[in-house]
Amino acid sequence: MKYFLDSAKMDEIKEAYETFGIDGVTTNPNHIMLSGKPFKTAIQDMADWAKEQGFKDYNDFPISVEVNPHLETAEEMINMAREIAKVSPCFVIKIPCTEAGCEAARKLEKEGIRVNLTLVFSPAQALFAGKYGCKFVSPFIGWKEANGEDCKQYIEDIVDIYANYGFLGETEIIGAAIRTPKQFVDCAVAGVDCVTAGLAVYKDAMHHPYTNQGMVKFTNAWDNTEGN
Ligand code: E4P
Repeated sequence: MKYFLDSAKMDEIKEAYETFGIDGVTTNPNHIMLSGKPFKTAIQDMADWAKEQGFKDYNDFPISVEVNPHLETAEEMINMAREIAKVSPCFVIKIPCTEAGCEAARKLEKEGIRVNLTLVFSPAQALFAGKYGCKFVSPFIGWKEANGEDCKQYIEDIVDIYANYGFLGETEIIGAAIRTPKQFVDCAVAGVDCVTAGLAVYKDAMHHPYTNQGMVKFTNAWDNTEGN
């Protein structure tokens, strides 16, 4: 399962890459706002860092960048996607799962610009990304569970549907907006290709109180071993 970082902050991207070996980055307009930089600067900084690391393209290290949410027509989204795609070969374009977005996603994939179909909240929506051969589909989990829905079945249904129609591996499923370690586990059990989460969630998933207790016990033992 690939681990993507949900952030446009360079310090978080660097830390997550060094510490957890993340496989890619996903962003949305909210992450860009939180980076404190204008859109063009934020995406250029990510592009420059990816180049410094020696990543060749989105197969090496995908960075999802979302189009302006004000855009209403497919043509407008396609034009902006083309501009974003020129900035870095690592960029995959996030397109919202609306009617205009689906048209844009289908046409962009036909011209070779890779798409992450985002703001997906149902298996019916996720099917479109598979049909259009999008690089990624992002079914949101954290937002739904924050509203009291249990997403286990939803994510398993998407994996089953993708298996039924040969979409698995062609369109990679990203369990998106992961907020808890349990949501990581639900995604892994369902067999999704990738998850995306903020840095704090990766830190939470890495920690366990018994590991801390074990470290205290073994440190004491080390210190009380004759000759150490
Ligand atoms: C998808 O890539 C993200 O997980 C999604 O945009 C949610 O982001 P959030 O963590 O800002 O809610």
